[in-house]
Amino acid sequence: MLLLNPGPVTLSERVRRSLLSPDLCHRESEFYDLQDALRARLLATHDLDPADWQAVLLTASGTAAVESMVASLVPTDGRVLVVENGVYGERIAQICARYQVPHERLTGAWLAAPDVAAIAARLDADRARAPFTHLAVVHHETTTGRLNDLTALSRVCRTRDVQLLVDGVSSFGAEAIDFSDRSLSAVAATANKCLHGVPGAAFVIVRRERLAQAVSRTFYLDLGRLAQLQDQRGTPFTPAVHAYYALLEALKEHADGGGWPARHARYAEFAEQVRAGLSALGIEPLLPPGESSVVLRAYHLPSGMSYATLHDALKADGFVIYAGQGDLSKTLFRVSTMGNVTADDLRRLIASFTRLAAR
Ligand SMILES: Cc1ncc(COP(=O)(O)O)c(C=O)c1O
Repeated sequence: MLLLNPGPVTLSERVRRSLLSPDLCHRESEFYDLQDALRARLLATHDLDPADWQAVLLTASGTAAVESMVASLVPTDGRVLVVENGVYGERIAQICARYQVPHERLTGAWLAAPDVAAIAARLDADRARAPFTHLAVVHHETTTGRLNDLTALSRVCRTRDVQLLVDGVSSFGAEAIDFSDRSLSAVAATANKCLHGVPGAAFVIVRRERLAQAVSRTFYLDLGRLAQLQDQRGTPFTPAVHAYYALLEALKEHADGGGWPARHARYAEFAEQVRAGLSALGIEPLLPPGESSVVLRAYHLPSGMSYATLHDALKADGFVIYAGQGDLSKTLFRVSTMGNVTADDLRRLIASFTRLAAR
């Protein structure tokens, strides 16, 4: 079965084999070597200086990394403006609400790009009374496949001394993230999407100076404590050792293949192959390619066909696609080309769609 859902991904044999690595006690030096290697490799994906940045590991899914970032990095006297144009932007606001992190939501239409002028105006409007200290945004809003424009958003933040917190769960490793931008404080992400590891390992890449001001609103997800212990070759809880093995191998494979730019290029080719194949069958993407990530595209369901019919027919041929979320489930389906996918696999996918269209 080929997974074309947005993670977990179809594993390469190399990563799958790493799951058979020796059993390891997490209180032994071998585990801390693994943890150190992982943290170094995560920083190396973007040539980040460990003196300035820290990769903090969590045994959890991507949501936990986002939760840890938001709950730990906004000080008690801070205030977050949350940019929402999909499910995952809404989730950041839900996390803020749950931890009583002072925040406002800037809610946009799910099909639209964030309104950068409106964001700037909102940041400016509250400047004198209760200034926003942080802007939180999803990089790739997996709900629709839209790639939110981090460059424009960080420009707005930089000129206003606002820190940017990024949910990079479905973009890290394949879409550009400019870590040299001073406004960027942290990016939360996971092993089992663009990095091609397995579920169970997530991480936050955070500026050390921002960690110095971290607060402790949560026990398990306390980013400051996790960072401190990991720096001392420690861990507070039992980590998902095998997910860590897999992430290390996945990061080696990522680097061997040319790092994130090469992965970006590979995904872009695959996304275009699928778009062109579906377009020939009259199935069109939701967003123009220039607005979409290379990681995942949302498409309009063929007229008269339910998602369930499409999903089941493709699954019978060995492909798992993904439904739209919320109201979009009635009109859209999504295809991601992350993981151990080849151009041949995608030719077979289009052939499967073609057979279905001819029924
Ligand atoms: C952008 C984004 N953020 C957060 C998540 C949540 O990740 P998880 O399901 O690993 O908790 C996802 C999952 O698809 C996502 O795409």
